Amino acid sequence: MNPTNQQILIKTVARLLTPPRGILAIDESMPTCNKRFEALGIPTTEENRRAYRELLITAPGIEQYISGYILFDETIFQSATDGTSFTSILSAKGIEIGIKVDGGLADLPGHPGEKITKGLEGLQERLTKYKKLGATFAKWRGVYKIGENTPSEECMKENAMLFVKYAKLCQENDIVPIVEPEVLIDGDHKIEKCYQVTARNLEIVFDELKAANIFLPGLILKTSMVIPGKDSKLAVHGMEIAQETIKCLKEKVPDIIGGIVFLSGGQKNEYVTENLNKMHLLGPLPWPLSFSYGRAIQNQTLQSWAKNPNDIAHAQRLLLKAAEKNSLASIGEYEDEKYIQNRSKDVV
Ligand code: G3H
Repeated sequence: MNPTNQQILIKTVARLLTPPRGILAIDESMPTCNKRFEALGIPTTEENRRAYRELLITAPGIEQYISGYILFDETIFQSATDGTSFTSILSAKGIEIGIKVDGGLADLPGHPGEKITKGLEGLQERLTKYKKLGATFAKWRGVYKIGENTPSEECMKENAMLFVKYAKLCQENDIVPIVEPEVLIDGDHKIEKCYQVTARNLEIVFDELKAANIFLPGLILKTSMVIPGKDSKLAVHGMEIAQETIKCLKEKVPDIIGGIVFLSGGQKNEYVTENLNKMHLLGPLPWPLSFSYGRAIQNQTLQSWAKNPNDIAHAQRLLLKAAEKNSLASIGEYEDEKYIQNRSKDVV
């Protein structure tokens, strides 16, 4: 990579991670989006997926809190009802266009229950197409399930090598790669186990990225927080989650990477906001630290739209409110619901 390419990547990272903004993930694959629609009785048609994404993309004022949207392949080619492409709408708001480029999960041979990520085939061609549409960053997700003997070293190593190939190709195309190793919340494990798995996995991921000379200031890590499994029924204070997560990240993530953002991973909306806020109270931190939530920002909006498909404005206000809360958390200034309501009197 020459210095010009590096500067392009650094500038994109800066536009994405300048406080107080974060990234909104609206990149649910077709099956995942349909599953969320079905759960709320929304017909799973292409037009409904388009209309819902239009609501998310056109929310007035969202650019105050959101620096980038991660889109799905179907979405990046779609347009609003008036014919304006989604990508032009985002660009006009100064929002970076991101794209999920992985192709979902496949079984890892010889390791029952473990997954690797598909999607390298044809990736160069797709990146060229996405870049022409204005994409400046991309996302690739690897998944790790905590069990008695999982994730295995092989699973972590295989996924890390895939991250390397993806990141290299993205950077060669001036696209900032988001590397997303997600340790799933499923299971009854304690927070200590999540710490151990997350730490080992991050070590493997960064060892591979460094060995392949990936330009780390031009890369963003999207990670899960260090938390107990959702079936563990253990009461863990948000401050412990914040402390353990930051300790783990400081130990295993190089200071020079572009930044770190979190996924929400099925945690309650309120918890991810509070946890991120608490992490900022533990600063100063060596890297920019923000959010790239999907569900935690969209949940209420989707529920509202499912109930009242004609009241787009209300659903958009809910989106704005969720984005604002997390924006405040990304600078350690989130306080409570009352505080937010006073700040945004127009929000119902
Ligand atoms: O890959 C996961 C999404 O980008 C983030 O989604 O916040 O709902 O976990 P989530």
